[in-house]
Amino acid sequence: MSTNPSAEETAPYGTGPAGNAPAKPVRKVRTHHLRDMKQRGEKITMLTSYDMYSAQIFDEAGIDLLLVGDSASNNVLGNETSLPVTVDELLPLTRAVSRSVKRAMVVGDLPFGSYQASPEQGYLTAVRFMKEAGAHCVKLEGGAEMAPVIKKLTEGGIPVIAHIGFTPQSEHVLGGYRVQGRGDTSDRIIDDAKAVQEAGAFAVVMEMVPGEVADQITKELDIPTIGIGAGPDCDGQVLVWQDAFGMRSGKMARFVKQYVDVKSVLTEGAEAYIADVKGSTFPGPEHTF
Ligand code: KIV
Repeated sequence: MSTNPSAEETAPYGTGPAGNAPAKPVRKVRTHHLRDMKQRGEKITMLTSYDMYSAQIFDEAGIDLLLVGDSASNNVLGNETSLPVTVDELLPLTRAVSRSVKRAMVVGDLPFGSYQASPEQGYLTAVRFMKEAGAHCVKLEGGAEMAPVIKKLTEGGIPVIAHIGFTPQSEHVLGGYRVQGRGDTSDRIIDDAKAVQEAGAFAVVMEMVPGEVADQITKELDIPTIGIGAGPDCDGQVLVWQDAFGMRSGKMARFVKQYVDVKSVLTEGAEAYIADVKGSTFPGPEHTF
């Protein structure tokens, strides 16, 4: 058997091809790369993606992780919240993303009701995301109470990202969209973070947690923390792409930064197309056989 390292093992770790640069071998993002990034203080980047083109664009831009979030429920499928989305609805979206990336780690998101009943239920659901949809790992919501599920999955060969703080699937238990871990309740979030690490999670998403608490957790954990509304001191950040790139307008959470205005570009394009067709200026001779 050859002992030569594979091209992937020897390739430099870095962002994927950009612009017209000659194609370098692309090294897939692995769990140990994220741990190394934390250790050397290099920030980790994560965006949601639910389809082929956004996945290709974000992957080529150099994103580290793509989350096919249950937020597809209210960003793709027209629901008001993430609660109604099913495993069968998320699998094809996850498959589209995993087929479209070369470098980014693809995270399948276990939806509400698909893992909370027992570790066995969680394992069987997670296996579907890995086998049928090509996910590289899964994310699930919950802290200490989810430790047995996280343990079962990791022992069964499935890398897990835990999601603590505000967990949208528990919106009705938590009393709505609220910052978690303020004041006296910070201990619970810190205990959750330690419990999910102990159970085997390789990273933890922290949503709507006070910046100081997120900073303390980030310092105390060995695994990377990825924040959304958890301040600047997490090891990485995640945003829903439709929020970050202005695919939608309306009320936005305070933690969102909008980088570009895709909605205006699409609106302009649609209005120009409608005007052209109504005015019989499209198709022109150059578009006609
Ligand atoms: O589903 C999702 O988009 C998420 C992020 C908010 C982290 O869980």
